[in-house]
Amino acid sequence: MKILVTGGLGYIGSHVVVDLIQDKHEVAIIDNLSNSNVSVLDRIESLTGVKPTFDKIDLKHKNEVKDFFKQHYDIEGIIHFAALKSVSESVSKPIKYYQNNVIGTINLLEFMPKGIPLIFSSSCTVYGNSKIQPITEEISFGIASSPYGHTKQICEQIIEAEYNIQPYFKGISLRYFNPIGAHPGGLIGENPKNIPENILPYLTQVVNGEREILTVFGDDYPTADGSCIRDYIHIMDLSNAHCRAINFLHETKSNKFLEAINIGTGHGVSVFNLITLFEETIGKKVRFKIGERRPGDVVIAYADTKKAKKILNWKSKYTLSDALYSAWNWEINKK
Ligand code: NAD
Ligand code: WQD
Repeated sequence: MKILVTGGLGYIGSHVVVDLIQDKHEVAIIDNLSNSNVSVLDRIESLTGVKPTFDKIDLKHKNEVKDFFKQHYDIEGIIHFAALKSVSESVSKPIKYYQNNVIGTINLLEFMPKGIPLIFSSSCTVYGNSKIQPITEEISFGIASSPYGHTKQICEQIIEAEYNIQPYFKGISLRYFNPIGAHPGGLIGENPKNIPENILPYLTQVVNGEREILTVFGDDYPTADGSCIRDYIHIMDLSNAHCRAINFLHETKSNKFLEAINIGTGHGVSVFNLITLFEETIGKKVRFKIGERRPGDVVIAYADTKKAKKILNWKSKYTLSDALYSAWNWEINKK
């Protein structure tokens, strides 16, 4: 298939592009470079021997999206990553997030060829603070703890509204839990332009001497060790889920299909567990201190993964230790 990857130069997108090329798909990338660098294209080429086409397009700009599809009318599938993802920035600049994430998705839906497979990057954040664990897809949306999370809920709902009225529509919203780690080749990984908000890039930068100390956000939660519990998934497993999803939609006989599917390991890990396992895996100490709870953090979130197994025949393969090793390998090799 010829697959359009929006946000394909970003953290998750670049890994998926590599997998798609290795799976013999032709890839076209659009990205506005707001949180990525064009040099990632060369890294993709080094890993695969193929340089995908790249157009610097901002999905917020309707005419750019329209023109793109006029020229690339032969796109056969879309994986839509392009979005802003900083939870804290979305609280201070909500309009920026609604404009970028929601308008961008609307423009894509308006001009994309109708009926082709569409994979949307959603997030476990749509569930809010769920009392039920592991979290199944049947659980209704919770109260979004940030405008960022709200944009994911809105985009899923807009996609569903399109599905309801289009005669042909094939889509999957993949709800990622906590993606971590990097490609084992050490050439692509998570390279945030600002101070990392997510725990893994912050932790590896502390161990590498780029930052002083990791703050554990709260040790008085109602969990066994008092820290929050999350479902950390290796980026290689997450990437593979996208290939399964797009191939599944391509092959399905139904004209209409739309499902939301959790992508996680199914295992909950506390912040202290994560730090200890990192120290054991890498053989280095993590300097940390206990801080206040971070506003908006949910106590526990881990995935029920049965639906991913049933529909996509996908489940995670890598261990948490593999993921931590790859994150460290990326940290010490990234340029
Ligand atoms: P990222 O910031 O590394 O990648 C996003 C890419 O999209 C960047 O290259 C950015 O330049 C591009 N982009 C943003 N707005 C754009 C626009 N208007 N037009 C064109 N390009 C645009 O983020 P990521 O971690 O790779 O996340 C990819 C997707 O997965 C996002 O939709 C994100 O919300 C979602 N997601 C991420 C996580 C996570 O923890 N990383 C978890 C759940 C869901
Ligand atoms: C993980 C755990 C923190 C940093 C976010 C988004 C979510 C999704 C994934 C996109 C939590 C603790 C963190 C630090 C810490 N993204 N922590 N010190 O918050 O689970 O999810 O990324 O959709 O929407 O909200 O991920 O990596 O920020 O935090 O103690 O410096 O690590 O409290 O328990 P989170 P995270």
